[in-house]
Parts: sequence; C-alpha cells; structure tokens
Amino acid sequence: MKSALFTRFFILLPWILIVIIMLDVDTAPAHPAPLLLSLRGGPRACPTPAPQGRPGSRDPKRNQSRPQPQPEPQLPTIYAITPTYSRPVQKAELTRLANTFRQVAQLHWILVEDAAARSELVSRFLARAGLPSTHLHVPTPRRYKRPGLPRATEQRNAGLAWLRQRHQHQRAQPGVLFFADDDNTYSLELFQEMRTTRKVSVWPVGLVGGRRYERPLVENGKVVGWYTGWRADRPFAIDMAGFAVSLQVILSNPKAVFKRRGSQPGMQESDFLKQITTVEELEPKANNCTKVLVWHTRTEKVNLANEPKYHLDTVKIEV
Ligand code: UGA
Ligand code: MN
Repeated sequence: MKSALFTRFFILLPWILIVIIMLDVDTAPAHPAPLLLSLRGGPRACPTPAPQGRPGSRDPKRNQSRPQPQPEPQLPTIYAITPTYSRPVQKAELTRLANTFRQVAQLHWILVEDAAARSELVSRFLARAGLPSTHLHVPTPRRYKRPGLPRATEQRNAGLAWLRQRHQHQRAQPGVLFFADDDNTYSLELFQEMRTTRKVSVWPVGLVGGRRYERPLVENGKVVGWYTGWRADRPFAIDMAGFAVSLQVILSNPKAVFKRRGSQPGMQESDFLKQITTVEELEPKANNCTKVLVWHTRTEKVNLANEPKYHLDTVKIEV
C-alpha cells in the first residue's frame, strides 16, 4: 500500500513541477526593467506603471514590424527634473511634456510639485502617463513667492536630493540630468544630443534673454563666450534649458545645489554651474551650438473672465 503511494507520488512529481514552472513563466512581468526603475525610488517616490511596450519601442527610428531589439544596456538614463505648480494651464503643460518624453528612450521623469502635498491632479496624470517617473513635492516658502525672485529653487533641489539618495549605495549607472521646465518646447533631437554628456554639456536656447536665441560661442570645439542680449556679465550666460549634467558629476559634487541666499533670477544657472564646472570644460552640443533644439516658450495667462464664481455646471470636470 505504502509503496504504491510512493510510486504514484514519484510519477506525478515531474508533472507537478512542470505545471509550477509554466505558471511561474506566465505570471512573470513581461517588462520588469522599467518597473524596477520606478520601484527603487526614494521614500517620497511614487511608482507609476511601466510604460506600454518596451522602452526601445519609443524610438521612432525602429521598424515596428520587426521584433523589437532591447535598448542597449549602457544607454545612459536621462533624468528630467521638472518643477511644476498648480494653475489653470498646468495639466495642458504636463500633457505636452509627457507627449514629448514618451518618445524618448530610457528617460526617467522627476516631477516635483511646488505644493505642501502631492495633488490628485498630478498623481492621476502621472499614473496614466506611461513613463518611468518619480513624484515629489516641496512647497516654496511664502516669502519667496514674489515677482523678481528666482522660481523653483526648492523643487530642483528636491530632485537633486532624490537622485543622490537613489544612487548613494551603488556605483553610478550612466546617467544625464536635465532641468526641464514644464512650459518649454523640446525637440526630440535634443535628447540624442544630451545623452552623450560626459560632464556638463551646453547648447543654444530659442526665444530667451530678449532675443530670438542665446547661445554659447564656440571656437575649436571649446566654449569661449556667450551670445546674449541680457546680462552678458553672467559667468554662464545660459538658461536652465541650455545645459545637462552627467549623473557622475552630480554625485561627485554632493553639495552643489540651487541657493536662495543672494541669488537673483537669471543667475541661478550660473550659481549652480559654478559649483560643478568651468567654462573651459563645457561640452558644446547641437553642431557646435549652432542649432536651436529647445525653446523657452511661455504660456499666455489664461483668460477666465467669464468663469462663474460658484460651480454652475452639472458635472465636475478636471481641466
Ligand atoms: C526662467 C527660467 O527659464 C527658469 O528656469 C527659471 O526658474 C525662472 O526664469 C526663474 O525666474 O527662476 P520662466 O519662464 O520665467 O523661466 O519661469 P517659469 O516657467 O514660470 O518657471 C520655471 C519652472 O518653475 C516651471 O517649470 C514652473 O512650473 C515652475 N514654478 C514656477 C514653480 O514650481 N513654482 C512657481 O511658483 C513658479
Ligand atoms: Mn518658463
């Protein structure tokens, strides 16, 4: 009796094992890499769903009908830090930005709300954005919310702190940091350019500084000055949208942050860059800084003159 049971058990055992293995294969996540990226976030990081399809499928150059190759393992991650604040056009700005970022392979969006808590609007938006992302928040102290004072200092610093914390225990993976304000316009070519940043790279910015564009002046592959119409005395006469920094440089300069004390609008970029690099060291991108790939667009203040004081519509709609 006992030996018959044993025989049956040993006949069934391989089949049970096969079924278990098959079930395991079926339930394994199809694209674990982007999910891991999000889940490894810091304490305030809010993991969002992995993007639809492989990261490589966002590359427009790939042929859609062939099997999609995995992205190169060493493709540096682009970390885009975006400060954002609540206003009527916020969701529209974020929608445009997400539509751009979705075309870029291996991009991690660090969205930092200027708020005391994460808002529902932004949380819902990010959850549906289909991008590896981290959702942070920090309010700008009221005394700094005045015209004439630099914006988004605390938010960019929160993004930097998250990046440093996330990479503190591991050897730095190849990565590039870029400050992407929520209202600018970014060409896809810009991301190809910045991805090869070794230390700090620079390029022209359109529609800024009271001119059609500002740009670093380049001679023999080196930055030698600035074409600008505004405060040419700035050590780095460049807008926030005009440079990228390698993750390695961010990690090896742990004290480099944006400062409130003594900082004026338009000087934040110089104050920050001074802490991590020199003009001689800058890497010119965009064909020796002769192509505009990013525009400092600003959205017109929206006209809500006819908005009723109290809610009149029969439904509540998020805008
Ligand atoms: C210019 C520069 O391009 C900015 O990088 C710089 O931060 C800013 O000046 C400054 O004065 O400090 P500008 O178009 O005038 O940009 O500034 P905004 O686009 O209004 O703000 C820059 C970023 O900060 C945006 O992403 C915006 O959403 C965010 N922001 C702005 C906040 O998070 N909180 C605010 O109260 C205002
Ligand atoms: Mn702006």
